[in-house]
Amino acid sequence: MTSIGILGAGRVGQNLARKLAAAGHHVVLGRRRPQEKTAASAVGVESRLSFADQRTAARTGDIVINATPGGSALERLTDLRTELAGKILVDVSNATHDADDGLPGDLCYPGSSLAELLQAALPDTRVVKTLNTMLFTVMTAPGDLDASPTAYVSGNDKQAKKTVSGLLGDLGWQPAWIEDLGDITTARATEAMILVVPHILRRHGFHPFAVSLTR
Ligand SMILES: NC(=O)c1ccc[n+]([C@@H]2O[C@H](COP(=O)([O-])OP(=O)(O)OC[C@H]3O[C@@H](n4cnc5c(N)ncnc54)[C@H](OP(=O)(O)O)[C@@H]3O)[C@@H](O)[C@H]2O)c1
Repeated sequence: MTSIGILGAGRVGQNLARKLAAAGHHVVLGRRRPQEKTAASAVGVESRLSFADQRTAARTGDIVINATPGGSALERLTDLRTELAGKILVDVSNATHDADDGLPGDLCYPGSSLAELLQAALPDTRVVKTLNTMLFTVMTAPGDLDASPTAYVSGNDKQAKKTVSGLLGDLGWQPAWIEDLGDITTARATEAMILVVPHILRRHGFHPFAVSLTR
């Protein structure tokens, strides 16, 4: 079992925390006000799920998941470089400027990607990008969709991607649904997939979906 720190206790962070703790991992959910309880604490996994500030969560986890707003993540995570050194950083965030209705509008880093910039800023950390191309509910219940979904994986370190693929398995992802696209520069493609998402949400609401490959 792995010690996992999650940065951000919003929809994504709490959802991942619950499922990973239920799978037997020890999870520290890092939030700005750790004393506030959340729904994540009420599902029978209390012994494996604790709350801390984000720096402590980054320090405690062997694997750290970024589930904070992507637009401001580069500066925030660079400030955690000491805590993140030697670790795997799983970035599930999307770095976007909001449109007028609050949904993702433009990319913050056109021609690059948050994942690439994080990897450059954190050379002692192995960054793996995944799970940013679906509604948060699908991250932990991929088998509930009518068709097989895809979890794209990008990263420079093969062993780190293997470890993250194992975690995806704990979240319910079958190996055939996991698509290793290559090194961290491939995250540029999956981060750009966010551009289709606001249009899907405006048409269908927050109905579970994933931007997937079919063959
Ligand atoms: N929602 C989705 O379906 C979905 C799908 C794929 C990817 N994503 C990406 O995943 C990330 C999280 O999304 P979400 O839907 O969970 O968002 P959310 O519900 O707004 O939660 C984000 C959390 O990040 C923390 N946070 C917010 N501003 C912060 C700041 N300035 N500094 C530090 N922490 C801050 C907050 O946690 P605390 O208040 O506990 O500190 C907040 O609860 C985003 O990058 C999003 O693009 C979301």
